Amino acid sequence: MTVDIAGIRLKNPVMTASGTFGYGLEFSPYTALDKLGAIIVKGLSLRPRPGNPGPRIVETPCGMLNAIGLQNAGVGTFIKEKLPLLRKIKTPVIANIFGENIADYAEAASMLDSVDGVAGLEVNISCPNVKHGGIVFGTDPNEAHRVVSAVRAATGLPVITKLSPNVTDIRVMVRAVEEAGTDAVSLINTIPGMVIDVEKRRPAIANRIGGLSGPAIRPIAVRMVWEAASVANTPLIGIGGITTARDALEFIMAGAAAVQVGTANFLDPDAAVKVAEGIRDYATKHKTSAAELTGAARR
Ligand SMILES: Cc1cc2nc3c(=O)[nH]c(=O)nc-3n(C[C@H](O)[C@H](O)[C@H](O)COP(=O)(O)O)c2cc1C
Repeated sequence: MTVDIAGIRLKNPVMTASGTFGYGLEFSPYTALDKLGAIIVKGLSLRPRPGNPGPRIVETPCGMLNAIGLQNAGVGTFIKEKLPLLRKIKTPVIANIFGENIADYAEAASMLDSVDGVAGLEVNISCPNVKHGGIVFGTDPNEAHRVVSAVRAATGLPVITKLSPNVTDIRVMVRAVEEAGTDAVSLINTIPGMVIDVEKRRPAIANRIGGLSGPAIRPIAVRMVWEAASVANTPLIGIGGITTARDALEFIMAGAAAVQVGTANFLDPDAAVKVAEGIRDYATKHKTSAAELTGAARR
């Protein structure tokens, strides 16, 4: 079950997705954190952010829509208050980072570079560059290249770039971030969506538009991993609607070396551990390994 992602050795290929598992520690009463492949913490920015006003979440058929607005404690508070406890868990902790401009990304990366207990960085590029007309880094290959290059230059830690699905051709983005020096690619982030409350005659969440996640997006995400795998030279991490081991195996067979479990954590805080156990059972039954199953549907 062990896999190597960007130089990070995972005891199994299942991680928890950023923003759906707090800073990890909140889940310790409900699941065995040391049975996870890795914990990816809530997106961190240079300065703390209060996020959007509520309501920020609404349930949808087969998923949920959220517009949390990247609320977080900030990199400094994370290092001071969360990391000392996280270090005690025998599971790699990956810090998810984002910024409003390239300098902020680079500074967040360099702050995390010098501390003990962070195994790698996941760079969320689904954010607007406020210094460049609000263009979303992850929807433009040049912007994506610039931000990943800056993070690469700021850290010696393994860098995983998390792609936005809001592009015409995901392969162009994979090439851009690989050229910029990413060590691995994770995909997908949420897909923009909207729900109207017909009694109130207004959008159900205060931000109006939110990010759709959960099983509803899984076939889109599997397709994008499949397409990404046709050009990728670095390991892929599949994300989107994974609730069971069978779901995870779809991503792995499409070409992912590892997966992340997100929205399913809201239904069952033990979901990611169950997914890992299910993959192990499948591999045992079929006398194979997680690594061998990667890309099995492509051969
Ligand atoms: C409530 C919520 C908060 C999220 N926050 C972040 C975040 O801070 N950074 C990030 O890169 N992705 C964030 N995501 C996206 C997830 O990590 C994941 O890419 C997405 O939800 C698709 O996976 P899923 O269908 O398994 O949830 C968030 C998702 C949800 C539902």
